[in-house]
Amino acid sequence: MIKKAVIPAAGFGTRFLPATKAQAKEMLTVVDKPTIQYVIEEAVEAGIEQILIVTGKNKQSIENHFDRSFEIETELLKKGKTAVYDEMVKISNMAEIFYVRQKELNGLGDAIRYAKHFVNDEPFVVLLGDTIVSGKNCCTKELIETYEKYYKAVIGVEEVKKENVHLYGIIDGDKVEDNTYKINSLVEKPSVEEAPSNLAIAGRYLLTPNIFEYLEKIKPGKNGEYQLTDALKLLCDDKGLIAKKYNGKRYDIGNKLGYLITTIELAVKRKDLGDDFKNYLKDFVKNIDNIDI
Ligand code: G1P
Repeated sequence: MIKKAVIPAAGFGTRFLPATKAQAKEMLTVVDKPTIQYVIEEAVEAGIEQILIVTGKNKQSIENHFDRSFEIETELLKKGKTAVYDEMVKISNMAEIFYVRQKELNGLGDAIRYAKHFVNDEPFVVLLGDTIVSGKNCCTKELIETYEKYYKAVIGVEEVKKENVHLYGIIDGDKVEDNTYKINSLVEKPSVEEAPSNLAIAGRYLLTPNIFEYLEKIKPGKNGEYQLTDALKLLCDDKGLIAKKYNGKRYDIGNKLGYLITTIELAVKRKDLGDDFKNYLKDFVKNIDNIDI
């Protein structure tokens, strides 16, 4: 049973300045919830009970969000808004959440190293804190099911356009069943010429605790940072590694266009707002070329 998750959330969010100057990018709101709440809801849906968030400077609002807020709760009760009150309390009881601060921004591989004691020799999942995955199936659950079949670390992947491979870790793999690959090799942010495929590492991992041995061995890689992909390559060479093309759609809120797309698509999917918002969008799109700039 996999009960632990690690959420790296230490990055500065430089692609989203000035919004991220004094606040965590993981706290950027999509409709009415901060991004990281969607991420934690996914983990909880997959049966995760304990979560370590790797934070950094300017990230205190994450801790506040998952804590109780007695002033707001008292006010809600006074006004008889019990449904909202229940929702607020639920947020702080979703899982047992721990925090550790990454002292220097030395890459994703370095951030995962901070989880060693928390993980305590158990397999665990990693969900990037600025990435929402939305779909019929719970992505983390799919990764756990794949692990329970192969008993090897599993990487969530998706197909990307050839011209975008330089933005991702890319795998080289052989298909073993539908949407599942045995990985031969991985490379972090290759050029189009170097890329062995267009299957990109996509924000979700299921790692075995031996990853920490390999994280100790790696040197700074792409962009001078400790890359998780480099440690995974060593793990792959020694023990083998599986890639799972998951069903959901990945939304990266860390850049401005990605954030806008996320907000629109998740708003359309909402039961309470979706129909009204769709009607608005239809009208808006009809006149889109006549909008004054
Ligand atoms: C990280 C990983 C990369 C992965 C990407 C998207 O890169 O290093 O392998 O493809 O996330 O999940 P970043 O976008 O943080 O530079």
